[in-house]
Amino acid sequence: MKIAIPKERRTHEHRVAATPDTVKKLVALGAEVIVEAGAGLASRFNDEAYKSAGATVAADLQAVLGDADVVLKVQRPLLASDEGPDELAAMKKGAVLVGSLSPFSDPNALQAYAKAGVNALTMEFVPRITRAQTMDVLSSQSNLAGYRAVLEAAYVYGRVMPMMMTAAGTVAPARVMVLGAGVAGLQAIATAKRLGAIVSATDVRPVAKEQVESLGGKFVMVESEETAAAETSGGYAREMSADYQRRQAELVADTLKKQDIAICTALIPGRKAPTLINDEMVHSMKPGSVIVDLAVEQGGNCTLSKPGEVVDVNGVTIVGHLNVPSRLATDASALYAKNLLNFLTPLINAESGTLQVNWDDEIVAATTLTRDGQVVHSAFQNSDPQ
Ligand code: NAI
Repeated sequence: MKIAIPKERRTHEHRVAATPDTVKKLVALGAEVIVEAGAGLASRFNDEAYKSAGATVAADLQAVLGDADVVLKVQRPLLASDEGPDELAAMKKGAVLVGSLSPFSDPNALQAYAKAGVNALTMEFVPRITRAQTMDVLSSQSNLAGYRAVLEAAYVYGRVMPMMMTAAGTVAPARVMVLGAGVAGLQAIATAKRLGAIVSATDVRPVAKEQVESLGGKFVMVESEETAAAETSGGYAREMSADYQRRQAELVADTLKKQDIAICTALIPGRKAPTLINDEMVHSMKPGSVIVDLAVEQGGNCTLSKPGEVVDVNGVTIVGHLNVPSRLATDASALYAKNLLNFLTPLINAESGTLQVNWDDEIVAATTLTRDGQVVHSAFQNSDPQ
């Protein structure tokens, strides 16, 4: 069984899908691993480290992908329509492609995988069941994004986070509000607390209250009958009604004007991120305040955030960095690669060292987008080729 690790070519991507550590484990499982030269450099893993772990390093993309039974990726491969080499075309028919393929951002890519005969499995769809916790890329990456978001805020904030009592005077602690208290939000709360800020947070899922409070944050939330059903069986949030959104906007508006920093992390899977901070609310914040919008790639929680930009709106800095986990590429790659290893291990027959996918397994079935030339995932059954 040959496993390929190509270099990530999409902009803002510094991560890599395997580290020397996971390569060693894949080799121990009986795999032959081929890494594209320089694939790990942006994550600070050099070719020598991969070779020492037992991989072959090749400079030519076709040599890396052409023969591979399994291709491990961070982001979805480049297609003929993208700038750069057509990575999909270099894969062989029947290859298993595993990565964070972001299927909702380009459903046409699924048709391309099917047409190429590539069996594509996407890590974002790993179900949140106990057995799959070690494979959960959304959690491993969101956790790092939440941490980094607070540091990005601290960096552009022209003041300090903790209270400081000095001979020259006392500096008040920063007030931080975290919108969305899931994986990223909870880590943002913990990080802001460690830096000495006064932290509050909001969410639509009532279970978040106890989690926020256990980290020392104050939980603010619109209580309503609707919130009892705000959490799906998968642990995610639903889109709330227009009436709830209006009441939530009042609460956020009221809280936000007393804050120095807002960290936005609210998401709804497969949909545009909810709008939680509108223009008026931004204008109500004090000059020098900071908003970091981690949801910017899904449309943003703040109406004035711009993808990939840091903007100044009347003295309020709004940070819209793309791909925040990639800004911590070494740790993000290490955790992501471990998630992939944990996902792949049950698909390998330990005795023969060959790939033996049980397509009926709950985790495999939930993540399989294409198989044997067909788009098979129920979320994309009606996506016609274009
Ligand atoms: P996510 O990234 O989809 O959303 C982030 C947060 O935004 C969520 O807490 C969500 O409730 C919140 N949100 C959505 N709409 C909102 C709105 N209008 N206003 C305020 N907040 C809003 O979700 P994430 O962080 O990936 O996971 C959410 C939860 O799932 C976790 O807190 C945890 O309880 C659970 N989980 C379970 C796992 C398991 O294996 N059992 C693994 C990871 C998370």
